[in-house]
Amino acid sequence: MPALQTARLDLEPITVKHAAEAWPHLDDPRMWQFFPKLRPKSFEELRLTYARWENPFHAKSELRENWACRDRLSRDVVGTMQATTFPAQTLSYIAYGIFAAYQRRGYAREAVEAVLHHLDNDLHSRRIFAEMDVKNEASFRLAESLGFKRVKTRHTVDPERGIDADEYLYELLI
Ligand SMILES: CC(C)(COP(=O)(O)OP(=O)(O)OC[C@H]1O[C@@H](n2cnc3c(N)ncnc32)[C@H](O)[C@@H]1OP(=O)(O)O)[C@@H](O)C(=O)NCCC(=O)NCCS
Repeated sequence: MPALQTARLDLEPITVKHAAEAWPHLDDPRMWQFFPKLRPKSFEELRLTYARWENPFHAKSELRENWACRDRLSRDVVGTMQATTFPAQTLSYIAYGIFAAYQRRGYAREAVEAVLHHLDNDLHSRRIFAEMDVKNEASFRLAESLGFKRVKTRHTVDPERGIDADEYLYELLI
């Protein structure tokens, strides 16, 4: 998993060391409004998740990547990015979170652009998808601002993510 760079950010592959910096920001209900079940219940749970992500499961059929976004000037970790790629299908799914204290400063757009560039140039994905609750306006407006098109609205029931809601599927064709 490569480190990525933008004008302001270093996207560092997530390791267990990022948990201490991320925890105060992730221990915040504003980050979990649309998927409360995924909210880590303790610092230890987040640490274990990041430990798992540090040594990701690399099935031939699927590649999972996670980055912590660090502002190079302030050294603050401002959010996280995720991509799951299915090389045989040349498609990826992305997910993004910018911590509440750092939102509306263009960080998400900047970081997602770097992830898209990586998925195109390094992993040769031709279709990128993002899914979100229909009420998550920040998320779908961000996707639209990056050129994603809404291709589906569907009712998703996913007990693992605690989701029983209408979701949009957005697609970017490269
Ligand atoms: C969605 C999220 C990542 C956006 O991060 P951000 O860094 O604040 O977004 P940016 O500042 O890069 O905004 C880029 C564009 O997205 C749209 N946008 C972002 N936040 C928005 C909001 N609250 N309402 C409406 N549009 C919004 C705007 O078009 C914005 O461009 P503009 O500022 O020029 O108008 C952030 O709100 C977040 O992490 N939310 C909680 C977790 C989450 O829901 N993640 C998505 C899971 S599907």
